[in-house]
Amino acid sequence: MKESLKNTLQQYNQTQLLRFENSATPEENAALEAELEKINFAHLDKLIKDYVLKKPEISIPADLQPAPYFPLVPQNDEQKKLYADAENAGRKLISDGKVACLIVAGGQGTRLGYDGPKGTYPIGPVSGRSLFEYFALSIRRNEIKYNTKISWYVMTSLLNNQQTVDFFEANNYFGLDKKQVFFFVQGTMPAIDYQGKLLMSSKSSLSLSPDGHGGTLLALKKSGALEDMKAKGIEHISYFQVDNPLVPVLSPLFIGLHAMEKSEMSAIMLAKTNAFEKLGNFCLANGKLQIIEYSDLPDDLAQSLDENGKLRFISGSPAIHVISREFIEKLTADGTLSLPAHRADKKVPYIDENGEPVKPESPNAVKLETFIFDALQLADKTMVLESDRKEVFGPTKNATGVDSAESCREMLIARDCRRLEAAGVKIPRNTDGTPAVKVEISPLAAVDDEDVAIYVKNNNITEILSGTERVLA
Ligand code: UD1
Repeated sequence: MKESLKNTLQQYNQTQLLRFENSATPEENAALEAELEKINFAHLDKLIKDYVLKKPEISIPADLQPAPYFPLVPQNDEQKKLYADAENAGRKLISDGKVACLIVAGGQGTRLGYDGPKGTYPIGPVSGRSLFEYFALSIRRNEIKYNTKISWYVMTSLLNNQQTVDFFEANNYFGLDKKQVFFFVQGTMPAIDYQGKLLMSSKSSLSLSPDGHGGTLLALKKSGALEDMKAKGIEHISYFQVDNPLVPVLSPLFIGLHAMEKSEMSAIMLAKTNAFEKLGNFCLANGKLQIIEYSDLPDDLAQSLDENGKLRFISGSPAIHVISREFIEKLTADGTLSLPAHRADKKVPYIDENGEPVKPESPNAVKLETFIFDALQLADKTMVLESDRKEVFGPTKNATGVDSAESCREMLIARDCRRLEAAGVKIPRNTDGTPAVKVEISPLAAVDDEDVAIYVKNNNITEILSGTERVLA
């Protein structure tokens, strides 16, 4: 190992990483050296002191207020006109090829208990189609609808990049033009034990994990994705998470309002179902919009009520954004980006001083991540738009229960049945109001009410019989 690197490890008390230098093969040493060369130890040392050796206090600004937002239903004629203009502007931006889609799919999906990239999870209630296919078909439908080409940027991580690319290849990119799909890999962070030491997963590697979706912004820059966007004339990025197949991959109103408001980063908000729903909270502090994660908002604030007896901090984040390309360029101009770190205590497998693998039963290390929504505070202008949960948010986080694959499938069916009813189709319902059919509309056939109305007319559908299980494609 290079002397300069050894000196750095000495300087920052990380010489345990040299432990196997004499017993490892030259290839193993070279691989470890390559990983270590990528680390900025001065920066990491500061993070270790601030976030690992002491538990950082979550500081809640004293003047914290609920954030303002554009309401779901326009409140007056002026706002009605604004929304109508914004929707038209959004449609035009999409048709003109100025909007790209971006999915973050680098996470580990541990809660779902699924072995494989989360996007490959079969979510279709009837079709069993994967999350990735769901998004891909929605994008294809938008291409047809707006007579344009849409670029799709797919962020993976070292954990799942190859499997993700293989899945797209094996499925022939779900009919998308392969050239329109740009995979990029997010950065990593080493796991750090409670003594502040970096852990190793083998003699040739550190215990590394993805650096959080805040890593998206720098990864866009480093991978050349930002350059690619610029070359293609893309101005706005429609950002969504791999776990939410209900999301409109492109929302004309949201995109148009973002552009008309000259917002650098915009967000969709939903009314939370209860004070402790696991959603980030939209807040305003020092005049700046910020999202405070559910785990960080003190209980008294989470439960506080306004004069009408409603939750004061009612606005939850489904993690749906529109971000301007130029904003990301500005943030990452010098090749770095400083977002606050967030600490998570985790069970991290490692090799001990004898090189023996250890699988801890309880948390033994800290993982540090950054969150993309912390970039809201860095924006000169932001915008928040309320949405209807039933139409945009069905997260697949857990195996069963709340926010599960099960609840997501029910929401997909409910949303599609509602759209069919709005188009005049008779849908039988159970006594509790849920549809008595299992019907799924292929996103390639329809992505919104307008599409469903046309589809129903073209296919002469007037009624779905009770007990029907069918994909409308
Ligand atoms: C997240 C948000 C929360 C929001 C909720 C909505 C965080 C910290 N919180 O919660 O504010 O209300 O979603 O569903 O994100 N990912 C990466 N790379 C990473 C980490 C995550 O690509 O390093 C991706 C995942 O693949 C997933 C998304 O980010 O698509 C969300 O990650 P997850 O850890 O599931 O966040 P939540 O705690 O569910």
